[in-house]
Amino acid sequence: MKKILILFSHPKFEKSRANSALIERIKDKEGVTLHDLYERYPDFHIDVDKEKELLNEHDVIIWHHPLYWYSCPPLMKQWIDMVLEFNWAYGPKGVALQDKICLNVITTGGSKDMYCSEGVNSFSVNQFLRPFEQTAKLCGMKYLPPFAVMGTHKLNDEDLQIYANQYSKLIGLLQNTVERSDIKDTLFLNDIEKLKIS
Ligand SMILES: Cc1cc2nc3c(=O)[nH]c(=O)nc-3n(C[C@H](O)[C@H](O)[C@H](O)COP(=O)(O)O)c2cc1C
Repeated sequence: MKKILILFSHPKFEKSRANSALIERIKDKEGVTLHDLYERYPDFHIDVDKEKELLNEHDVIIWHHPLYWYSCPPLMKQWIDMVLEFNWAYGPKGVALQDKICLNVITTGGSKDMYCSEGVNSFSVNQFLRPFEQTAKLCGMKYLPPFAVMGTHKLNDEDLQIYANQYSKLIGLLQNTVERSDIKDTLFLNDIEKLKIS
């Protein structure tokens, strides 16, 4: 079974509805390490050696965060800046993350129809996530499409539970094997056949 590291980043988790529903559902799953960055590093002083150790111990790396100004909250970026060092994560001798699986799990206030060329946000979520995609690729990781919970302000508790169940199913799938044929050209992991909630 693949080991999963969830790098979770939410500056106001105590006020969260969407992410708290997602986290609550998966936090005690076997083989999953939930690493709450704001809880661990409230002063932003990241223990790089410890983070590298954690990465070494896991096969699947999840950047889980709400979308803030079309990107991640600042501690997540700090984590990327500090931990993904030259000649460790990338560069001629940087093979530590080679072949690990990587993806973003995000929540957005804006709904899906706002994220297109005619919408208020002009670009798709996948386009906004390009820096994460390319970061993962530069480090030799296999980047999967995101799992996204969108339009959070309009979702009731029941809707959130449906997404939480889907996230839990996704974790199960990632622990085994996600085949290329499962993903095909899908833009969001939410849409793959094996994750459909009946
Ligand atoms: C500082 C800040 C920036 C935000 N930027 C965006 C954004 O760029 N796009 C978007 O769709 N929602 C944005 N939102 C809304 C959050 O993504 C949304 O409230 C969050 O995903 C809901 O999850 P939660 O209930 O776990 O907090 C922003 C919220 C805050 C506080």
